[in-house]
Amino acid sequence: MDNRDINIPNHVAIILDGNGRWAKNRGFSRTEGHKEGVKNLEMLIDECRCLDIKYLTLYVFSTENWKRPAFEVNNLMSLLNKYLIEKIEVLTKENIKLNVIGEIEKLPSKTFKLIKDTIEKTKNNSKLVLTLAINYGARNEIINGIKKIAKDILDEKIKIDYINESVFSKYLYTQDIPDPDLLIRTSGEYRLSNFLLWQCAYTEFWFTDVFWPDFRKEHLYDALENFSKRKRRFGKVDNEN
Ligand code: IPE
Ligand code: IPE
Ligand code: MG
Repeated sequence: MDNRDINIPNHVAIILDGNGRWAKNRGFSRTEGHKEGVKNLEMLIDECRCLDIKYLTLYVFSTENWKRPAFEVNNLMSLLNKYLIEKIEVLTKENIKLNVIGEIEKLPSKTFKLIKDTIEKTKNNSKLVLTLAINYGARNEIINGIKKIAKDILDEKIKIDYINESVFSKYLYTQDIPDPDLLIRTSGEYRLSNFLLWQCAYTEFWFTDVFWPDFRKEHLYDALENFSKRKRRFGKVDNEN
């Protein structure tokens, strides 16, 4: 497909799923699956940069993923630490700004510190905003937002009548990024798993059976090509009707 045929979404969000099943099918441990999944990020980020996608948001670790065995949780945190340490230079060189959504204060202190450092070091970059959802849950985000609003009301910083959709959006972790235009989920699961519930009100969804470690450039292009054919009406009627 030619890039000219695609209507490039401003913001692509991805639920990177299927690392475990990818590994199981090959007789490997889940750890191998996660390792392979992390390796695949380079391709994705490069493609998004080249296509001039401005925002890429990746679901990396959910608030529910703590329920996995401690060994797997520790392994995911180590992979994340390793990724941040190894990629800081590339992110800087490629003009990518790191953003993180989720309750990061509750992450292991090393991970928390690495996240903070990487955000700080890449804060002036502008080619692509790469948002990682880590210890992220949309319900947790909404509850946190409500608590912050309630506090601002008690502190008389805002009045109840002032609250509307756009004001509420500013109390969410995603306050600095636009809503996703396209959401991709890999691995044949057709659910949101507590990802961006508020922000996906008008997002286009695309699902593929491919496990995340097998997801290639071609699959991304399939999603984008399909997205380009969608008619987004936002509740209105088409002009031609
Ligand atoms: C996605 O792969 C990575 C994370 C949720 C961290 P999974 O680990 O969920 O893989 P499956 O769904 O078990 O195959
Ligand atoms: C969603 O995948 C979370 C991430 C990809 C980080 P899960 O594998 O945790 O979701 P469920 O449990 O299948 O819904
Ligand atoms: Mg999964």
